[in-house]
Amino acid sequence: MLVSFEGIDGSGKSTQARLLAARLEAAGIPVLLVREPGGTALSERVRALLLDPALHIVPFAELLLFSAARAQLVAERIRPALEAGQVVLCDRFYDSSTAYQGGGHRVESLAWLRDFHARVTGGLRPDRTYLLDVPPAVARRRRSDRGTDRMEAAGEAFFERVATTYARLAEDEPERFLHLDGTRPPEAVHAQIWADLLPRLADRRGTPVSGSGSPG
Ligand code: ADP
Ligand code: TYD
Repeated sequence: MLVSFEGIDGSGKSTQARLLAARLEAAGIPVLLVREPGGTALSERVRALLLDPALHIVPFAELLLFSAARAQLVAERIRPALEAGQVVLCDRFYDSSTAYQGGGHRVESLAWLRDFHARVTGGLRPDRTYLLDVPPAVARRRRSDRGTDRMEAAGEAFFERVATTYARLAEDEPERFLHLDGTRPPEAVHAQIWADLLPRLADRRGTPVSGSGSPG
C-alpha cells in the first residue's frame, strides 16, 4: 500500500508522516518512509541541486529534475518495498510536481502532467493521499525557524497557486485524497489520518489491525 502526504512547505507533512510511521511500526506493520526529492543516492544529489539558492533553474528543467529523482526512487526503493508487502509512506509524490511546477510555475497542462507522471512512475499511483491544508501565511511562520531554500524563496502568490492546484486535485480525485485541516494540533490531525487509514489497512491485509499502537 502506497500512502502520500502533500501540502505546501510548512504544512506539517513530515510531522504527520513520522507520526504515522511510528504508529504503524507500533502496530507491527512493516513500513518504509521516504521523502521527495530524495531517498536514494542519486535522488539526494538531485535534491541538493534543486534546493540550491545559488542556481537558476528554468521551470521545465525543474520538472525534469524532480521527475528524475522520482523515477530512481520508485525503481530503487518504492517498488521493491511494495513487492515485499510494506506500507510505503511518501513525504510528497507526483502531486507535488503537479501543484508546484504545474500550478505554481504553469509548466504544461494538468492533463499533460498526469500522463507524464504515469510514465515517470510506471503507472504507480498512491492508494491514499493526505493533503494538509494550511494558509500560506501560517505555513511561512512555521518555516521561519529554518533557512530558506531555493523553492521556498518563491513569493506568497506562488504558494497560493500551489494551494489552489492541490485543492483542485483533491476535488478531481475524491476517492484518493483526504483534504485535512492542517491548522489543528499535530495529534488531532494524526488521529484523523489513523482513523481513515486503519480500515483500509484491514481491507488490504484481510484481517483486522489492532488500533491500540501508539506513536513513539
Ligand atoms: P512540512 O514537512 O510540510 O514542511 P513539518 O512537518 O516539517 O512541515 O512542519 C513544519 C513546522 O511546523 C515544524 O516546526 C513543525 O514542528 C511545525 N508543525 C507541524 N505540524 C504542526 C501543527 N499541526 N501545528 C503547529 N505546528 C506544526
Ligand atoms: P522540502 O524541504 O522537502 O520541503 P517540505 O519540508 O515542505 O517538504 O523541499 C522540497 C521542496 O521542493 C518544496 O519546496 C516543494 C518542492 N517540490 C516541487 O516543487 N516539486 C516536486 O515534485 C517535489 C517533490 C517537491
